[in-house]
Amino acid sequence: MLVLGLETTCDETSAAVVRRHDDGHGEILSNVVLSQVLEHAEYGGVVPEIAARAHVEALEDIISRAMAEAKVGFADLDAVAAAAGPGLIGGVIVGLTTGKAIALATGKPLIAVNHLEAHALSPRLVGRLGFPYCLLLVSGGHTQIVAVLDVDRYERLGTTIDDAIGEAFDKVAKMLSLPYPGGPQVEIAAARGNPARFALPRPLLGRHDPDFSLSGLKTAVRLAAESAAPLSDGDVDDLCASFQAAVVDVVVDRLRMGLRRFAGKYNKPKALVVAGGVGANKAIRGALDRIAAENALRLLLPPAALCTDNGAIIAWAGAERLALGKADELDSPPRARWPM
Ligand code: KG4
Ligand code: ZN
Repeated sequence: MLVLGLETTCDETSAAVVRRHDDGHGEILSNVVLSQVLEHAEYGGVVPEIAARAHVEALEDIISRAMAEAKVGFADLDAVAAAAGPGLIGGVIVGLTTGKAIALATGKPLIAVNHLEAHALSPRLVGRLGFPYCLLLVSGGHTQIVAVLDVDRYERLGTTIDDAIGEAFDKVAKMLSLPYPGGPQVEIAAARGNPARFALPRPLLGRHDPDFSLSGLKTAVRLAAESAAPLSDGDVDDLCASFQAAVVDVVVDRLRMGLRRFAGKYNKPKALVVAGGVGANKAIRGALDRIAAENALRLLLPPAALCTDNGAIIAWAGAERLALGKADELDSPPRARWPM
C-alpha cells in the first residue's frame, strides 16, 4: 500500500511517500521537509499569515520532489493523506485542499489525518510495536500523555493546563535573547550551565492527575533573570540549565503518574514512546530512559527527523487508516482545533 502524505499545519511544508507492507511494517520512500524557520525568525515565532503563504509557494514543488525521490507516479498511489488539523488554519487549508485536488484528479481515496494521531502512530512506522502503548507528545503546540489503545482509540491521560513544553523553551529563549527557535539553543546553553544555581519551581509535582503546567516556571525564570540583570553569558547558561532541570523533573514526575494511571485502567503498555520536537532534547531523552528502566518498559524514541513535523507520519497514519478501510469525503473540513 502506497500513500502520499502532506503536512502543512505549522511551519514545516512537507510531502512524503510511505509504503505499508502487508505484514504491517512501514517503509519511507521519501520525506521532503522544508522548514520555514528563517521566514519566522525575525518575529521570534510562527506568523500564521506568512506560514500559509509559504506553504502555498512551496507545496507543489515539495510534492514533485517527494514523488520523484520515491520513483512513483500518482497512478501508483493507493491514497492521498493530508493533515486536516489541528493547526494554523491557513496552512491546514493549503495542505488539505491540495490533497483533495490530487485525490479528485487521480480518483484515489482521500484520508484527512489528525496531526496528533500522526504523531501518536509514528513509532509504528519505525519499529514493530503493538497496542496499547503510552505516548508522551511534547512539541511547540502540544504537551500530552496519551494511552494509544488502537488506531482511532486514544485516551488523553494528561495535558498542559497552560503552555506547551516547547512553547516554554521558546519563551525562555526569547527572554534571554537567544535566537529562534529557542528549544535547541536553551539545550546548548544548559549544557554549559549550573542547574543548581537558580531555585526554580516544579509546578504540579506530586499531583495525582498527570497534567502539566509550565507558565509559573516560565515566570520564575523571568523574575530570576530580572534579579540577576545585567546577565552575563554564564548567567544565561545557568538560567537555561536550571530551567531545563526543572522541566526534566516535571516530565519525570508527570509521566510516572501517567504510567500509574495507564496501568490502573489498561494492560501494561507495550512501550513508552515519545513524539514532538522537544523529544530531540537529550536531557529529556535521558529522563525517559530512566523512567522506562524503572518500569521495565521498552522505550521507543523515533529519530529526531520523525519526532518533528513531517509528511511521512501523515502518510503513515493515512496508511494505517486505509488498511482498516477508513477514508474520508472530499468535503472533509479543515480544523484549527481537533482533539485526538
Ligand atoms: O514538533 P515540532 O517540530 O513542532 C510543533 O510544535 O508541532 O516542535 C517544535 C518545538 C519548538 O518549541 C522547539 O523549541 C522545540 O520543539 N524543540 C526543543 C528542542 N528541539 C526542538 N526543545 C528543547 N530542546 C530541544 N533540543
Ligand atoms: Zn507536530
